[in-house]
Amino acid sequence: MRLTDHEKSMLSGDHGAAKARAMDLLVRYGEALGAERLVETNNVAGAFNASTPSIRHLAEQGFDKVFSELNLDSDETVEIPRMEASTCQLITGIDNDNWRIQGVDPHLAELQRQSEKYLGQRGINMMATCTPYQVGNVPVKGEHCAWMESSAVIYCNSVLGARTNVEGKESTGAAALTGRIPYWGFHLDENRYAQHLVELDIAVDDMMDWGLLGYFIGYAVEEEIPVLSGVAHQPSLVKLKHFGAAAASSGGVEMYHIPGVTPEAATLEQAFGPRETKSVIRYGARERAQTFEKIQSATDRKIDFVMLGCPHNSIEQMELIAHLLEGRTIHPDVQLWVHTPRAIKQIADRSGYCEVIEKAGAVVMSDTCPAISRRMPPGVRVIATDSAKQAHYLPAIGKVQGWFGSVRHCVDSAVAGEWMGAA
Ligand code: F3S
Repeated sequence: MRLTDHEKSMLSGDHGAAKARAMDLLVRYGEALGAERLVETNNVAGAFNASTPSIRHLAEQGFDKVFSELNLDSDETVEIPRMEASTCQLITGIDNDNWRIQGVDPHLAELQRQSEKYLGQRGINMMATCTPYQVGNVPVKGEHCAWMESSAVIYCNSVLGARTNVEGKESTGAAALTGRIPYWGFHLDENRYAQHLVELDIAVDDMMDWGLLGYFIGYAVEEEIPVLSGVAHQPSLVKLKHFGAAAASSGGVEMYHIPGVTPEAATLEQAFGPRETKSVIRYGARERAQTFEKIQSATDRKIDFVMLGCPHNSIEQMELIAHLLEGRTIHPDVQLWVHTPRAIKQIADRSGYCEVIEKAGAVVMSDTCPAISRRMPPGVRVIATDSAKQAHYLPAIGKVQGWFGSVRHCVDSAVAGEWMGAA
């Protein structure tokens, strides 16, 4: 791999042991991928927090140990300096306020708080959400980033037109320390063109429709790039957030185009560029119905847990949930957890939405989600969610049955204690 003089100097240890480790990791990683060089990045979104029981033994040896081992793949503990690139923490395993409800032990909750202080002293911003683009980290078109989290990556590439591969804990740690990431995959123009045309024969409008369409497309194109035609209604941030998260769950989609909506392709011709069209896929009423059936893993209509906010809720979604819950009470056998970034929770608090939601008996959570924390209320058997991604993962992770539906279906079900959407 070709390195600049500054990169060579970091690799040789002139800028400290941590940067030398980071450069060594990036060079090995880049060479394995066939990258010819590194590219500068000033936007890293990764996972640095010590919040899982499995790393408690490392944290007891100090947070430099945790970072060295988990974010630099180094058995030797090196002193970690301030990050070179602007860096944020994605979602964590623990809600700093609601950890007791999650069933987290107090020592682990305290470890997370101490870890955050350590990371903040090194310039890592505690956004603590899978949707950093909702709370201030909005890279511009063409910006080279190093992000983890599949739903964030697909949003970054497609809706914002910034450039990232799906990175890992180690590569984001090394990128944060050096301001470099291997130049391959979605950083290169030639890998950003569409491969499949998806023609919509039906109107796709509300959030649930967009989740179903994403879930369908993920299975259809797997890890390749689709371009959509026939989109009749302008999608919003919330709809594209759900669409991308679903497509990245059922498949491994990291980028898509919608001419007239996403920034890199104003027309189908631009979307395909020099690439051949590998397939034309139709999405109509039959495909929608089949996808809806595929996503439901529940048969028992009596539910005990409802999860809203995957990816983390926007402020409009918080307002809608409060509106739907106003004056109602959650069924005593059901728990409803509503997940939103902490910065949005503050707006929801000031707007009175959290009060309405909590008065109904629900819990507003930040910093985490059940799939990442692997924590749900004890004894849960049947869940309901408005998220195709959560409906895809939770039954596998938590050995539960899952219903998928609209926000209204989920809220009505939480009140009734049984599934009120379509089966
Ligand atoms: Fe975010 Fe957790 Fe869903 S990380 S995208 S809320 S599975």
